[in-house]
Amino acid sequence: MPKNQKPLAMYLSREEEGIYQGEKGETLRRMMEILVALGDIYGAEKLVPVRSVQIAGVSYKNIGEAGLEWISDLQGRVVVPSILNPAGMDLCRWKEMGISEDFARKQQETIEAYRRLGVTIDCTCTPYQIYDSLASQGDHLAWSESSAVSYANSVIGARTNREGGPSALAAALVGKTALYGYHLDENRLPTSLVEVEAELRGSDYGALGFLVGRIVKDGVPFFRMPGRQPAPDELKALGAAMAASGSVALYYVENVTPVPPVPPGSWQTEEKICIGRKEIDEVYSKYSGSGADVVALGCPHCSGQELEAIARLLAGQKVQKELWVCTARKIAEEHADLVAAIEMSGARVFCDTCMVVSPATESFDKMMVNSGKALVYLPGLGGVAAGLGSLEECIDVALGRR
Ligand code: F3S
Repeated sequence: MPKNQKPLAMYLSREEEGIYQGEKGETLRRMMEILVALGDIYGAEKLVPVRSVQIAGVSYKNIGEAGLEWISDLQGRVVVPSILNPAGMDLCRWKEMGISEDFARKQQETIEAYRRLGVTIDCTCTPYQIYDSLASQGDHLAWSESSAVSYANSVIGARTNREGGPSALAAALVGKTALYGYHLDENRLPTSLVEVEAELRGSDYGALGFLVGRIVKDGVPFFRMPGRQPAPDELKALGAAMAASGSVALYYVENVTPVPPVPPGSWQTEEKICIGRKEIDEVYSKYSGSGADVVALGCPHCSGQELEAIARLLAGQKVQKELWVCTARKIAEEHADLVAAIEMSGARVFCDTCMVVSPATESFDKMMVNSGKALVYLPGLGGVAAGLGSLEECIDVALGRR
């Protein structure tokens, strides 16, 4: 019997079978083994080509020495466009973040290991903000970061499961992923109807996502919202928060996002949830930013429009507390004038990293954010207490007005 006799039911083409048997080298054999194992666990019929990959497992804080060794051991090159999740530091300005030399060396080694594999060194959770070419409606993807997965599935209408670091890298090197989960119509039907009975703006969407994710867990909420349509950055915040407080990877907003894969009325939700201004305001009062010693914006990474809003609110003033703004390097380069304007206030714009995956955050006691996702993750993953406020309130705290 061949060394890698495939034990279970997933169909493999002749070429895929050859890779699985090691005909194209040990790295690809191991990668195919990961894809086949996942496919068999989740009952996939076959593999499907992916348009792009976004790889988690980049911050040395999260992967440690074992992860670095695993990546460094791989040979070959990715065969589809592949980019990275945020790293543990700004790759250029890490000293300003208070990152140690040892950590920086290990983080750079990790980045170099990915570079050798042909991965594009953009470290961001908002790949869709910097490259239009990575995902369109109907594309199959293998993305890792939960807010990016949510945005891809829900706002773009592409199809991706939430990949772990190894399975995303396997998809990048093989160019395929197993066809299960959110790749299939049957798993893309709404499970909960959410009636929003308030006009929302900005960070309200993070608070809404924080609440809904806790209720629906891994369900697929279908939102009805009155008033003006949410902007892309607001949808980004909504999906990010639901992915953190629950594990929502797909949602719909009536008349805003792509529609479910069957005609209206042919699916039925299991539950109805109503959220009004009272529930949203309770999130702000329960998780207030009072006593914060640092303010961090950009979870998920800021868009150009968000940088513009921050620059406008800071214009002509000096911050009294640390204010970090996180974004993708390409966004910062494209909006160098806004970055300069923000930094005139004493705030700092960091690229390639974020407040949750960087060890630098641990030196603070309490962080004020405008993100429902950061509110969930900071205490556990970032080791710092967190409070939520609107963008305007966050800036006021940084300026010492509150
Ligand atoms: Fe992005 Fe970090 Fe938030 S990866 S979504 S900024 S926790």
